[in-house]
Amino acid sequence: MDSKCQSRVENMKSELHQRGFLSVRKLLSEAGYSSFDLYYDVFGKPHLHDGKHISITHSYEFSSIIISDEIVGIDMELQREKILRIADKFCDTEFDYLDRKNTAEYIKKLTVIWGAKEAIFKIRNEKGISFKDHISVNQFDLDNNQATASLNFNGLNKGFRLYFEEIENFTLVYALEQ
Ligand SMILES: CC(C)(COP(=O)(O)OP(=O)(O)OC[C@H]1O[C@@H](n2cnc3c(N)ncnc32)[C@H](O)[C@@H]1OP(=O)(O)O)[C@@H](O)C(=O)NCCC(=O)NCCS
Repeated sequence: MDSKCQSRVENMKSELHQRGFLSVRKLLSEAGYSSFDLYYDVFGKPHLHDGKHISITHSYEFSSIIISDEIVGIDMELQREKILRIADKFCDTEFDYLDRKNTAEYIKKLTVIWGAKEAIFKIRNEKGISFKDHISVNQFDLDNNQATASLNFNGLNKGFRLYFEEIENFTLVYALEQ
């Protein structure tokens, strides 16, 4: 670890944060990269010097990275009942197809939608994007592990392919710009 890295780790107060940071360095090395290949822009978005696209997520003990030739964003979320209370804050058009009565499926679908919107936000990274008003996830089946979404913001209309999977009681979602 270089000295800049070392001092960043020492300044991280929570052990979980430190472990998250170190695990990303480990995942980078699995992919054949070192921490020198990674840099962050002023918004905190990670980039690779070789021009490939990278995205990073942490959730509790999990860390994931994705590296691609395509523009990509990733997010991992724990499936929790708490999401039922905030659904109105990040969903709008999705209520046309969500079935609130099937609670177990509803939680899983909301978690996919939340993860998808975080992943798309990480791609676009623009101030003023609202999950509820500007990003829309189209109808999907949990069994299919795929979905599509669109971002309508500031006159820009972009489509995204989404892929998701369950790992224990977490949902991992990644988005690729179309
Ligand atoms: C930046 C943001 C996307 C990070 O997501 P998160 O769920 O808090 O945390 P995650 O663990 O999934 O992601 C963390 C990683 O995101 C990356 N990241 C941080 N800022 C980023 C940005 N502006 N753009 C892209 N990626 C970013 C970093 O790589 C970070 O990991 P690292 O510090 O180990 O390198 C998030 O904090 C955010 O601002 N989300 C938008 C919130 C929002 O608009 N909510 C509306 C609710 S209605």
